[in-house]
Amino acid sequence: MEVIIAKNSAEGSSIAARLVANLVRRKPNAVLGLATGATPLLLYQELVRLHREEGLDFGGVTTFNLDEYVGLPPSHSGSYYSYMKKNLLDHINVPPQGINVPDGLTADIPKFCGEYEARIKKAGGIDLQVLGIGADGHIGFNEPTSSLASRTRIKTLTVETLRDNGADFGGVANAPHHVITMGIGTILESRVCLLMAFGEKKAGVVALAVEGPLTSMVPASALQLHPSAKFILDEAAAAGLEKRSYYNYVYEHKPSWQCE
Ligand code: PGA
Repeated sequence: MEVIIAKNSAEGSSIAARLVANLVRRKPNAVLGLATGATPLLLYQELVRLHREEGLDFGGVTTFNLDEYVGLPPSHSGSYYSYMKKNLLDHINVPPQGINVPDGLTADIPKFCGEYEARIKKAGGIDLQVLGIGADGHIGFNEPTSSLASRTRIKTLTVETLRDNGADFGGVANAPHHVITMGIGTILESRVCLLMAFGEKKAGVVALAVEGPLTSMVPASALQLHPSAKFILDEAAAAGLEKRSYYNYVYEHKPSWQCE
């Protein structure tokens, strides 16, 4: 696991964007796993800038989103499909057939989830998965006690997550309670996992995920099992880490062949 502590979310997002851009330049048919929420917004802004100003070409790229609300049509303003279009996909050139977001309206959820997994495999697997972390430690919508081997499936959101996301629906009462999410096992198969966390509200859960025990009570701790997981944090989100000076030392002394 690599822990990169940036000065602030802008610097952290530009480090993340550089990793994504390098991948897309090296592998024009890269498969990107995408996340929603507040955290990746600056990353997406930077990718749009790189596309517009530096010609970063997403024409051969395939994307898979982590999750979607059950019961919402893609056109709903609170859907993650809408979020992705608005914040990234309407502004870069991923072809429509390369865009995959779970279908919140599917009539047969287990069948759809199996097909989503098969689509990821058929695309060659996810090269780089962008992740946020919930205040309760979730990645994707794998809430605490999710199986560490779980696959794409339906999940029920915790009260804490409903509270965090209720604003997108004008309050908790209107927010969907169920989601389709890639599983932790699905996420762990990505070649690189890039988890971003910014702000002091994330400090406690980041410390548990990075330095605490591996436990389904903190789903993000499963990334300790991943051979290439990177946590990109700002100072505030890194504040609870015991070994922060070691992480800074490692980053500053990284051999050039390891930097991308
Ligand atoms: P946030 O959500 O980026 O809005 O903090 C993260 C998450 O729930 O995974």
